[in-house]
Amino acid sequence: MSDTSPLGSSYWIESAPGTPYPPLERDVTVDVTVIGGGIAGLSTAWEVSRAGLGVAVLEADRVAGGVTGHTTAKLSALHTLVYDRLRRTRGAEATRWYARSQSAAVEHAFEVSDLTGADCEQERADAYTYACDGRLARTLRAEAAAAREAGLPASFVTETGLPFAVAGAVRVTGQAQFHPRKYLLALAADLRSRGALIHERTTVTGLKEGTPCRVTTRSGARVTARDVVVATHYPVFDRALLFTRLAPRREFVVAAPIPEDRDPHGMYITPEANTRSVRTAPYEDGQRLLIVTGAKFTPGTGDTSRHFDDLLAWTAEHFPGTLPRYGWATQDTFASDTVPLVGPLHPAARHTYVATGFGGWGMSGGIMAGSLLAALITGRAVPPWKDLYDPRRVRSVLRSAPTLVRNQADVARHFVGDRLRSPQVDSVDQLAPDSGAVVRVNGRRTAVYRDADGALHAVSARCTHLGCLVAFNAAERAWECPCHGSRFATDGRVVQGPATRPLDQREM
Ligand code: FES
Repeated sequence: MSDTSPLGSSYWIESAPGTPYPPLERDVTVDVTVIGGGIAGLSTAWEVSRAGLGVAVLEADRVAGGVTGHTTAKLSALHTLVYDRLRRTRGAEATRWYARSQSAAVEHAFEVSDLTGADCEQERADAYTYACDGRLARTLRAEAAAAREAGLPASFVTETGLPFAVAGAVRVTGQAQFHPRKYLLALAADLRSRGALIHERTTVTGLKEGTPCRVTTRSGARVTARDVVVATHYPVFDRALLFTRLAPRREFVVAAPIPEDRDPHGMYITPEANTRSVRTAPYEDGQRLLIVTGAKFTPGTGDTSRHFDDLLAWTAEHFPGTLPRYGWATQDTFASDTVPLVGPLHPAARHTYVATGFGGWGMSGGIMAGSLLAALITGRAVPPWKDLYDPRRVRSVLRSAPTLVRNQADVARHFVGDRLRSPQVDSVDQLAPDSGAVVRVNGRRTAVYRDADGALHAVSARCTHLGCLVAFNAAERAWECPCHGSRFATDGRVVQGPATRPLDQREM
């Protein structure tokens, strides 16, 4: 999230120390380079390092500070409504592999925190997908049956710990939750203690595949490595047009202290009301921190302040008397067939890999990806679910054609339609303090932000990824691209990829 966001920083970032890793300033040679220091990247690095390989992690910003630092951090194999759909589209065996791989990741998180000594507030909790509308009861029963058939301890229930009535819920027992940043900081420290390199504020600008591969960075320093893993949420290198199969979604998070006796004891999510997710975490003075997530939107679209207000209103209505102390936003990438893409970067790839498309379930997904990619790289103990996640899969992607077409129609609409549309305001004179809009300046679409003191900050409105037009997110005070979710600060700096170059500066 932008460091200029009025929402503030995430609780996970505020309640864990910063990181000390230096930028890469000299050429290095390692066995494996991992681009991206979130949970998928660090987990992969940790696994290959434990297998005895030399590793370098390159992170454009701070490790565990991007998507992983803003998540709700549920460690669960229950992913809203995935099992009944998977059973119908991929068959019973693939559904079992999904359940087994995600459950294995939940358990592996406990092993990793034991081995790294992570004091990461890991707790067991049951996971629920619930609905208040009785018309969804049948869907939930089908999901419970599919999840049980896949091997999960799942059942349909009508009682939960939530302080309001539900029509029904799928419950999967024995899942977990944790503090994602404390988990990953321990993992990073353990990596360093075993000689791995971790470089923050190191933006990768080029990838040359070969034997070995070469990665170049903005400073000019290069990494030579046999294998390269692209784990940057939305891949910054995309040689198989994966972006056509991925859609970005952003949502808000509010967190409020509650007395321990009001803890709903569980991790909850509903597909209703544009998704609402609830969990709690240990907090000060014997209280719990209630964490509510929802109000999904495509970055760069709609009235973001209204989305945030909706989430605040929902929290106040369903947990009366709570006073939010934190507010932030998180961004997820959804694969068109709902299964993450983990494996070779493109059909001809020999030594390059990708992990993306976790669809809001990046904790178990990222840990699963770490184990799977390490197995593919080392060739040891490759799990039977590798084909399920293989980015080169064709059949299930074709079956997701309606979603694919819809995603691409959205991108085309933004790429072409946004250019035809009139600018949001006719002149910068119409911009109120602390607001932004795309304005035509000297015939060019320009993203202009007027700060609280009245000064104007102008950058090109053309996203440096593939050229869609950015739009202003008023709730977070950032420029966002609706096509693939790149985000930029008001001065044009990249806050989130896939863009790697800042928006061009413009004179006013
Ligand atoms: Fe792809 Fe902007 S993120 S065009």
